[in-house]
Amino acid sequence: MGSLIRLFGLALSITMLIMFSPVAGHNYDPYTDKPEMTSHGGQMLTGTINLAIVWYGNCGKKIKKTMRNFIKSLDFAGGRPRLQPKVVSWWEMVESYQSLMPEAKPGKPPKIYVKVAKELSEKTCTLGKVLILQHHIQKLIDHVTQGDPNVIPVIVTARDVTIQGVCHGRCADHLLTEPPNSRPFIIVGNPEVECPGECGWPFHAAEFGPKGPVLKPPNGDMAADAMVVSFASALADTVTNPMRDGFFHSFYADQLGPSGVCKGIFGRGAAPGNPGQVQSDPRTGGNFNAYGFKNKRFLLPAVWNTKNGTCWTG
Ligand SMILES: *[C@@H]1O[C@H](CO)[C@@H](O)[C@H](O)[C@H]1NC(C)=O
Repeated sequence: MGSLIRLFGLALSITMLIMFSPVAGHNYDPYTDKPEMTSHGGQMLTGTINLAIVWYGNCGKKIKKTMRNFIKSLDFAGGRPRLQPKVVSWWEMVESYQSLMPEAKPGKPPKIYVKVAKELSEKTCTLGKVLILQHHIQKLIDHVTQGDPNVIPVIVTARDVTIQGVCHGRCADHLLTEPPNSRPFIIVGNPEVECPGECGWPFHAAEFGPKGPVLKPPNGDMAADAMVVSFASALADTVTNPMRDGFFHSFYADQLGPSGVCKGIFGRGAAPGNPGQVQSDPRTGGNFNAYGFKNKRFLLPAVWNTKNGTCWTG
């Protein structure tokens, strides 16, 4: 009898643990949970952000061009005014996190400029085709930065290259190098060969979960357009939470950034498997939700709106 009670007690405490542990009991659901982004006291990146990009493997012109055009679009306020919304408005939402900082001055938050300061092509994959974070990625970071602490390394991979941990729940990420000289960096995986059904969605049928409409990539390339989505999310995260003590949604074990809390949402009416309402280019059929540099079109992930706490896409 005593052992039965103990067994019951054990079962009960395991159940309680599962019910009340934020990780095991309930995963964050961007469609139904109300996200709450809060500052944890750390700084944001401000002013001019200089990216140092490593194109690892034969990334191809399309990926390079699409990503470069997206970066140029972040502060491109020109173009035909009637073509709305603009990438620059999406970026202004990221910039608006500055006004939630304790020392923020009233008024419009200052611009945050993003420039490509350095580029390095490792076409021949000198470190092999499977990149391990602490080992290979660190080497690439050292190589591209040449000791310059004022650049943000971005490692972008070709279709036949794998980055450790990418594809399994993440498509790009903002990470920190090992202490004592921790610095933020970004990895961007290529979904084309390894995980199109996970990281190529919504331009490829989803591998998991409910099936919904598949969108047409606005720049005509599933991998390039999906990499813009995941890079945009990692960039917003890097700017608002560079050292992992800035803005994030804190209730869950994994830190979720401005787009992380809105994952899977690209327009009104988004639901599991359905990216939501987006525009369609009458000429190409490409789906997008933002216009950028030279009237280029991009699909960008929703970001948490600092004004009313909803997921916003412009
Ligand atoms: C939140 O603000 C955006 C504009 O910034 C607006 O389009 C949206 O309707 C607002 N949502 C709510 C629930 O107030």
